[in-house]
Formats: sequence, C-alpha cells, structure tokens
Amino acid sequence: MVLDKTLLITGTTGMLGKQFLDFFKDKCNNVYTLNRVDGDLLDFDFVKEFALKYNPDIIIHCIANTNLKYCEEQEKDTLLLHCGLTHCLSSLDCKMVYISTSSAQDPHNFYDKTKLLGEQICLLNNKNNLVIRTNIYGINSSSGKSLFEWAYNSLTEDIQITGYSDVYFNAVYTKQLVRTVFDLINKEHTGIINIAGDYTVSKFKFLQKVCEIFEFDKNLLIKGTQPANALVKRSKNIALNVNEIKQKYNIRLHLEEGLSELKNDLEIQ
Ligand SMILES: NC(=O)c1ccc[n+]([C@@H]2O[C@H](COP(=O)([O-])OP(=O)(O)OC[C@H]3O[C@@H](n4cnc5c(N)ncnc54)[C@H](OP(=O)(O)O)[C@@H]3O)[C@@H](O)[C@H]2O)c1
Repeated sequence: MVLDKTLLITGTTGMLGKQFLDFFKDKCNNVYTLNRVDGDLLDFDFVKEFALKYNPDIIIHCIANTNLKYCEEQEKDTLLLHCGLTHCLSSLDCKMVYISTSSAQDPHNFYDKTKLLGEQICLLNNKNNLVIRTNIYGINSSSGKSLFEWAYNSLTEDIQITGYSDVYFNAVYTKQLVRTVFDLINKEHTGIINIAGDYTVSKFKFLQKVCEIFEFDKNLLIKGTQPANALVKRSKNIALNVNEIKQKYNIRLHLEEGLSELKNDLEIQ
C-alpha cells in the first residue's frame, strides 16, 4: 500500500532513522530527510523554514543524542535537542511520530528526563500525535557502539564480553519497530504506545540468544551485574508492558525472529 502522504524523517544517519527511510521510501509519495548536514538543528527558525518548504503530512522524529554521558554533561544542548527541536517540529501543522524510549517510564538520568519531556511537549502541541516508547537493537548506529554492535564486533574478534543479569528489557529489531509504526500510522493510533517484544529478558540472556543465533562461542559471554557507581544512573527494569499492541492490534514481536532477521540482513549486506 502506498500512502498519499509527504513524509519528513529526522535522524536518518542513525540506526533507526535509516531503517525508517529504507522502509518508507517506497511507501509514501514524497519522503524527505532532515539531518545535521542540512544546517544547525538548534536554530529553530532554520528548522521551521526547512520543514515548511516540504510541507510534510507526517514527521517521524528520530533525532536524539543517545550518548547518555554526553547528555549528563551537556544539559543545555541536550534540552535544546530533545525538547526544543521537538517543540519546533511538533508545533507545525502536521502529525508527528515521536520516537521515545522505554526508560521514559522510569527516568533516571538527563537523557531519560528530556526524552520524557519531549513526549509531553509533542502531545501538548497536538494530542493526535503518536509517541512511541520502545527499546531497539540493530546496526549502523551513529556511534557504532550500540549494545548489539558492541557484542557482535567483540564476539567476532573473540573478545570476552559481560552481560548484565540484573537488567531487564524487551528490545526489538529496528525493522520490527518500523513495520509496527507503519501499522499504527495506518490505524490512526494517537497518544503514547509501547512497542517492544513479547518477552522480558536480562541483558545477559539477550546476549546468550545472540551467541546462539549468530553461532558465537558462548564461553566468551560472562555473567555480570550493572555497576552501582556508574556515572550515569540507569533503571534496572526497562521492559515495557506490551498488552496494548497485543490486545488491540494483535501484534506480537518475538526475539528469535528479530535476531534471525538481523542475521539474515548482515549476511546479505
Ligand atoms: N538506540 C537505542 O537503544 C534506543 C532505545 C530507545 C529509543 N531510542 C530512540 O530512538 C531514536 C533513534 O535512535 P538511534 O538508536 O537511531 O540513535 P543513533 O544511531 O545515535 O542516531 C541518532 C540520530 O540523531 C542525530 N543527532 C544526534 N545529535 C544530533 C545533533 N546535535 N544535531 C543533529 N542531529 C543529531 C544523529 O546524527 P549524526 O549521525 O550526525 O550523529 C542520528 O541521525 C532516538 O530518538 C532515541 O532516543 C533509541
């Protein structure tokens, strides 16, 4: 199905934005992107002018600084990026899909807090906007150091890694998320919704599954716990309740399926 819509996707140089662009480029009449190469994205007059030039029906907003330590240290820039830019784009006369994070349900650090504030701004500007709380894994992140990439690269080089057995989540492969967002846009869902896996696993168990599916040596994976004195405070349970997508939309996202799809994508890359 091709949507008769003009779409603007922000942050398409990142892990998730790239997948949105890849998926939607054939699904919408016009798809435009907004990234830092286009100009200073904290110059909101510029951003407004840029967006209005394309007159989008939908903005999928993926830009965020995912370096939690940077967010802690550079509060002003983080606030401007996560809240100022979100306000600028969500106050335009179109629908916004705001990509939030599972940790907004229990904020522990500045990244979490500003992502939560971004959600609120987005919905205050337009209650028909769509806010996606999620947790993801995949490839091609801006840092190249997301959980899966770090594990995959280390294990490929036979480097031992530690997986936290006391931190729980239900991350999904970026492609599983993108397809689900497409469904929810078509179903005209509004407000906050959780998109995550139909499972809760510790990071250790997740990495065990990575070892199993990607056929890495399981002895390279060590069980550990999240350091209590880390510079950036983090919640130990960021698993999202997925009852709404299951009961209302019959969507179930599975861990083995996501990892197998990612394995396949890496093989054909
Ligand atoms: N990764 C996760 O585990 C995770 C989990 C839950 C939610 N999310 C959310 O998912 C969304 C996408 O994240 P991701 O995983 O794709 O992260 P990513 O790979 O780090 O991509 C982030 C994007 O934001 C852009 N960006 C960062 N700082 C910027 C700045 N100051 N000015 C302009 N652009 C800037 C990056 O541009 P450059 O490439 O130029 O740096 C990149 O396009 C974010 O909203 C994030 O909060 C991520």
